[in-house]
Amino acid sequence: MRLAARLAALSALVLTAVSVGALPSSAVASSLPVASSAVASSAIASSDVASSAAVSSGVEVSSAVSAASSYAISSAAASSYAASSAVVTSYAVSSAIASSAVSSAISASAATSAPSVPLTGEVSGVSYTVSSTYTIYGDPVPTNPPSLATSPTAGEPPYNSGSGTEVGWQTLSISSYAFSSFPVVSPTPLPPVFPSYSPLYPPPVENSGSQIVPDFSDAWDVAFAKAEAFVSGLTLEQKVNITTGEYQEPILCVGNIAPVADWPGLCLQDSPLGVRDTDFNTLFPAGITVAATFNRTMMRLRGLEMGQEFRGKGVNVALGPMMNMGRVAQGGRNWEGFGTDAFLSGEAAYETVLGLQSVGVQACAKHYVDYEQEYKRTQESSNVDDRTQHEIYQKPFLRAVMAGSASVMCSYNMINDTYACENDRTLNQLLKGEIGFRGYVMSDWGAQMSTLSAVAGLDMTMAGGIHLSTPDGGSWWGPNLTAFVDNGTISMARMDDMATRIMAGYYLLGQDNNYPNVSFNASSLYDTVHDKHIDVQADHYKLVREIGGAGAVLLKNTDGALPLNKPRSIILVGSDAGNGAMGANGYSDRGGDDGILGVGWGSGTANYPYLVSPAAAIQERARLDGSSLTNWYLDWDTEGAASAVEQVDVAIVFVNSDSGEGYITVDGNWGDRDNLTLWHNADNLIQAVAAANNNTIVVAHSVGPSIIDSWAENPNVTGIIWANVAGQEAGNAITDVLYGAVNPSGRLPYTIAKALEDYGVFLILGGDNDTILSIPYTEGLFYDYRRFDQYNITPRYEFGFGLSYTTFEYYNLAVSVLPQYDPTDLALEAAWEAGVPTPQGEGSSTAFWLHRPYVQVQFEVQNTGALAGTEIPQVYVHFPTGSGEPPSLLKGFDAIYLEPGEVQTVTITIPRYELSIWDIIAQGWSKPEGSFTLSVGASSRDFRLTGPIPI
Ligand code: BGC
Repeated sequence: MRLAARLAALSALVLTAVSVGALPSSAVASSLPVASSAVASSAIASSDVASSAAVSSGVEVSSAVSAASSYAISSAAASSYAASSAVVTSYAVSSAIASSAVSSAISASAATSAPSVPLTGEVSGVSYTVSSTYTIYGDPVPTNPPSLATSPTAGEPPYNSGSGTEVGWQTLSISSYAFSSFPVVSPTPLPPVFPSYSPLYPPPVENSGSQIVPDFSDAWDVAFAKAEAFVSGLTLEQKVNITTGEYQEPILCVGNIAPVADWPGLCLQDSPLGVRDTDFNTLFPAGITVAATFNRTMMRLRGLEMGQEFRGKGVNVALGPMMNMGRVAQGGRNWEGFGTDAFLSGEAAYETVLGLQSVGVQACAKHYVDYEQEYKRTQESSNVDDRTQHEIYQKPFLRAVMAGSASVMCSYNMINDTYACENDRTLNQLLKGEIGFRGYVMSDWGAQMSTLSAVAGLDMTMAGGIHLSTPDGGSWWGPNLTAFVDNGTISMARMDDMATRIMAGYYLLGQDNNYPNVSFNASSLYDTVHDKHIDVQADHYKLVREIGGAGAVLLKNTDGALPLNKPRSIILVGSDAGNGAMGANGYSDRGGDDGILGVGWGSGTANYPYLVSPAAAIQERARLDGSSLTNWYLDWDTEGAASAVEQVDVAIVFVNSDSGEGYITVDGNWGDRDNLTLWHNADNLIQAVAAANNNTIVVAHSVGPSIIDSWAENPNVTGIIWANVAGQEAGNAITDVLYGAVNPSGRLPYTIAKALEDYGVFLILGGDNDTILSIPYTEGLFYDYRRFDQYNITPRYEFGFGLSYTTFEYYNLAVSVLPQYDPTDLALEAAWEAGVPTPQGEGSSTAFWLHRPYVQVQFEVQNTGALAGTEIPQVYVHFPTGSGEPPSLLKGFDAIYLEPGEVQTVTITIPRYELSIWDIIAQGWSKPEGSFTLSVGASSRDFRLTGPIPI
């Protein structure tokens, strides 16, 4: 069945609760959301909704204007962001007093305004006095994970741009925010462009990108009404308990909120690619691999099937998707995310959230924000200018919010000198303000740094304790939060807002309706009391295999070396072709590299139910074809390999490159990769094989780009497939591509450079235990392909590149402005067209008119070869000269399956938002002056059609 048809069938299953068959346990099946065919809009219409959702455009403009003045402070701060001062709101006068005496976390400083009554209390065993303004110190010294608190003494990666370090603690601004939940500023839902949807019944996926902008505000309003009713009946302690993870009790999930009254609490569980720490689950392809498909249907389906598994195990909150931006090619967790481009990452985040939440699981968009390296992740400040923040790092989060994500996880690092989980600018002003996020912000595990983080926008602390490893060290919240609210330091209104946001996420996904109980114990598979070993896999292996095939990128194919056609003899070279000696789950959290690499390491993994190696899959095929098949797995014995491959028709060399989260070190790599060379002597092995066999095909299972220039142009290397990290079906997926059962259509979601130096942006290393590393994002918008284009650097393989076994031609480009039949926002649209920046207000960056289809791009694509295949046409916008934008920016893509000779018209639309730049002075989105053009093509450098955009 074609994917679109399968998706329709799957959605139908979910809608009619027939997914009984998909989730074998009857307990699970009976609790799936039961729905009539009635779609959300009618189901959730209520007078409550109508009154709170009816915000007229008049109100929108005026509230925007008044909000604009209060944002004046932040815009001033924004322009000086390069100097990386924390954003300080009106009464946050705070001088950093670096002193060990401030282990109380809160210290009195010169009183100027705000609460005047001195307060006393206790934070983690140390008494404190509070008066007037507060200075919050990053104390205790963050040592999570402990291994990161000490610097490497030897073997540091060679590329340390070495720019300054910062020592000392930073101040936390105390927000003047009112802290009442606010609606997204939007017009009343207006079908067919802004229809009202519930996350349980999202709009159908379209491979070319959605033509509609779903409005989830009705669903949020209903959820908030329920949440407010629930929270209004609680005591202060109960409200606090909703916000504070269970850090002292034995717990079942990686994060747990204890039951409160008759509410059962929450189970929060990793990971972005499947249910972690359990069994009878699927290990899906990683984010980077689904990004490489450039196929929204696959992104949505993966989210949906993962959601079914989380739900089936009783997980309320799935800790994904992960959307950090692959800024540094060596970044350890890049493979968990969706690559280096903000548009592609945004689309993948959007579809993943819609898929996950469609089965009633809360998504958690992480890690917010600017968390791009593992080294000293708790002791670094990512110093990011306001424009770059808006245009790149924040963008996938904006899209996740537009998909209705119930939660967001703030990251370990600092942003412009303030910790991400107590950062008023990013949490209150940007996420909850501009983007209009109505859900809750949870801390990464141990990333909370103070009790007062509540006023900077944190709603839930995870895992709950100050220290991950010593739960008896107390919590910043729990009794401390109660004390702070009791004594007026934190308002009850804010406390209510925190608890209400969390409960709203629960109601938004209908989790009050027969949600399954937790049926596993993340810390022990052998817990006979709690671990029910429920099988949630259904037939998800099929999608895993499809994504693995569609996410494999064919980089080189000389004279039709591929697909293989019944070769008489085959040799598989390299340990990556087989299974590791310790089995698929031999290393905890996959923290080892032996055998076929299907995933990186860390919390972003799951247990494999099984792992199909390339050798196992190819053997099946060899038997059918009558091919002789042998292998050579001794990676360091290159002489042996060279003699083994002689006289063999085709030598397939399997190589890999691994990375992961910083709490595990593998082969000297502290999470981040020490370098970009392939592992296990791969370059030497490939060259030795190619010297002895003139039909050498290289398959790389790699967490990201690697430098392959020592052999990429070797004429005896006749094929290269970049297979990413494909999950449990990795062997089957690559065999499908090698033999042509799948015609490759994967595209690189990052640039493969000729040399590491070409990337221009590197890990920042060094520092000692007390050092806070300064990570200047001074490259701004210019990393990965944007940098290569800007500075005319020739890559080995560019972003968006990937070959097929067939060929495609592009014709007849037509670019037009769509008729705007929605009268609601005409004034705003006209102002934008005249170059006026968008007004500020809550939800202003997600305002529907800014995201509705605006420009339409149409062209034809024909399959001009002999095999059926899928083409990934990509639309790149070239902003006007002088706008400060990179030469080309991805703004649209599609995935079209074509039979030989078949022609299809492709229609892609672009909203105003994608044609805007962030104006740091006005703090709004604006259309830069000058002429826009766009190109349509097969990669970021293979443009086939170009034309002006008539705006
Ligand atoms: C990771 C998160 C993860 C959490 C819970 C942290 O170390 O950064 O991504 O969700 O642990 O396991």
